[in-house]
Amino acid sequence: MNDLIGFFDSGVGGVSVLHEARRIMPNENYLFYGDNAHAPYGPRPLEEIRALSAAGIGLLLERGVKAVVIACNTATSAYAEIVRAQHPELPIIGMEPALKPAHFARHGGKVIVLATAATLKLEKFERLMARYGDEAIPVVGEGLVELVENGRAQTPEAAARVRALLEPYSDKQIDAVVLGCTHYPYLREHVQAVLPHAQIFDGREGTAMRLKSQLEKYGLRSDDAPGIVEYRSSGGPEAIALMEKLMAWMD
Ligand code: DGL
Repeated sequence: MNDLIGFFDSGVGGVSVLHEARRIMPNENYLFYGDNAHAPYGPRPLEEIRALSAAGIGLLLERGVKAVVIACNTATSAYAEIVRAQHPELPIIGMEPALKPAHFARHGGKVIVLATAATLKLEKFERLMARYGDEAIPVVGEGLVELVENGRAQTPEAAARVRALLEPYSDKQIDAVVLGCTHYPYLREHVQAVLPHAQIFDGREGTAMRLKSQLEKYGLRSDDAPGIVEYRSSGGPEAIALMEKLMAWMD
């Protein structure tokens, strides 16, 4: 049996989720595909995001992966239900902004949900907001994915961009910030610098745990594989080098 777990993202963001999966399950084999040539997905129309996600996830399926992680909130919102209906035989794990735990961690204040324009406007997020969003403030992380994709997450320029987006809320009581895009954990310190008292949430651990339980449920867990990671990208060798660099940076 092919023992690869496929990971998909519009670019390097999903590496932050893969890092967490490897921490929990180091002896699984992973195939990561990033569609860096087309990132960012967030500002694109729904039909385009669906077509790009179908192509990217299609490459993983052609390799016969045993499970798929859509390590992208945007692609999950646009495409997860469709691909799950097409492949009921396969565990397909998606992501959503971690608003639920952030909502319950509040102590009277508000929660900022930082995510892409598409994630914030699609129906999946509307449903999440209806349940846990009474004190939530959605903020589009304009320009952030581009900075990460260009290898500039750890720069003063990225810190300034995060500051410009979040500073307008610094006089409100912000108890939590949800990093609702898998590119944003690389910017976590910049977020914390602007809102030092806010607790920061992201969906990486929840997704990795869900992957583990789904593999167990389907009888697909392997604990004795070599634990390799194979990177693939529509963006060529430079994008793959950035994936490897970010994976090492997360250690
Ligand atoms: N990393 C993705 C997400 O979680 C998509 C970012 C983008 O391409 O706009 O939303």
